[in-house]
Amino acid sequence: METRKLLYLKPPNTQTVLLSDIRAAGWDAKIAESQDEARVMIDSECFHVGLALFDSTNNIDFPGENLISTGCPMKWIALLPPSQMQNEDVRQMIQENFYDYHTLPADTKRLLPIMGHAYGMAKIPRKPLIQQSDEYPGEDEMVGASPAMLELFSSLRKIAGVDAPVLITGESGTGKELGATAIHERSSRSGGPFVAVNCGALPSALIQSELFGYEKGAFTGATQRKIGRIEAAAGGTIFLDEIGDLPMDMQVNLLRFLQEKTIERVGGTEHIHVDVRVIAATHVDLETAVKEGRFREDLYYRLHVLDLNMPALRDRQEDVELLARFFFNKFAAEKHRNIRGFTHEAIRIMTDHDWPGNVRELINRIRRAMVMCENRLITPADLGLERRICGRYTLTLDEVRSTAERVAIQTALRRTHKNVSKAAQELGVSRVTLYRLMEKCGLHQAAHE
Ligand SMILES: Nc1ncnc2c1ncn2[C@@H]1O[C@H](COP(=O)(O)OP(=O)(O)OP(=O)(O)O)[C@@H](O)[C@H]1O
Ligand SMILES: [Mg+2]
Repeated sequence: METRKLLYLKPPNTQTVLLSDIRAAGWDAKIAESQDEARVMIDSECFHVGLALFDSTNNIDFPGENLISTGCPMKWIALLPPSQMQNEDVRQMIQENFYDYHTLPADTKRLLPIMGHAYGMAKIPRKPLIQQSDEYPGEDEMVGASPAMLELFSSLRKIAGVDAPVLITGESGTGKELGATAIHERSSRSGGPFVAVNCGALPSALIQSELFGYEKGAFTGATQRKIGRIEAAAGGTIFLDEIGDLPMDMQVNLLRFLQEKTIERVGGTEHIHVDVRVIAATHVDLETAVKEGRFREDLYYRLHVLDLNMPALRDRQEDVELLARFFFNKFAAEKHRNIRGFTHEAIRIMTDHDWPGNVRELINRIRRAMVMCENRLITPADLGLERRICGRYTLTLDEVRSTAERVAIQTALRRTHKNVSKAAQELGVSRVTLYRLMEKCGLHQAAHE
């Protein structure tokens, strides 16, 4: 049997709880006394399960996503005094980051089975990222069969094969982050970490220490050394999202790192060599930012060795139906609802839509429609994409007719409490005709005899 590896994270100067029992049960357990220490250990070794011990005094903050290596899936279990569970924030933190929790006093008979289950969950093979199916052509989980996407897949493969910096451009929601993970997964660094940093979301005062880390005592509150995100990505890839938002002074530091491949932690003097690939992304036009003096030209050229432009959804209309069906199937599997698909009109309107929010907007609309839909087929109304006479859209006579038909049928069905015979009578058509019309409008689940 494979050795089951445990990382036991506990506050410094506290006793480990049940450690000898855990080891006696065959676990190879290592101890970390701070989250930074745990992160370094996770980056250099695979652990299956993490056990985080909290006492009743330490304020519980647990940066879940930082304490999981992308290479080795790992499940965390919290071990905490019952009093901590009274705290709403703690409960939420447990729910978001932990596989399970165990309240003290610790009980081996309860804890060891939980650890066994967590180990089992961590070992479930993850769906391979590279997946190409005839039904949904694409790469990784990137769906697309349009010429623009086929060209993109081909560039992506070439880019993954080399180690130079990449700049990914594209509108919001076009898949820039997905593209970055795809490059990482296909590269020789796929066994290493993929660390994403959103440069726009970090307060400028924190960026330096977040990216480069700091030494103990570097400033007030720096009670222990912190490894920066670049260092945490060693052996893998760092994804610098919204690079256009990086303040000027940080641009100089990043440039130095790209040139010298070394970092200096804040408050430190050592130059630390870090082997990491840089992928940056932006939705703003960096060339203009350079011209306007908001982005350093030298950094722009350093980052822009290779580039990947994610096409907007409106420029690959032929992918809309493919994507819509792909996400429909994905969510249908989650929901077990009896929705079968889309009406023809829904597909047509989706294909014609301008998609300012690109793939993300498409996903959101489909999710919403699958909740709103009361029939077997999703209609434009479910998607929130009904054409409006006074809006940007114009209507053909056919569309006016079918909309009016659908409204009349829905009203009649509502009035007759979904009795098709009575509704047909009201509408002055035969039952068979009404069924045909309901089928056409995607309303045929809405009724009974
Ligand atoms: N070609 C694609 N196939 C399948 N899913 C996609 C595709 N492109 C994007 N997505 C999905 O769309 C969503 C948005 O993608 P992502 O976050 O990568 O976009 P982004 O360009 O980084 O957006 P933003 O600029 O807003 O940060 C994600 O859920 C992603 O998985
Ligand atoms: Mg993004």
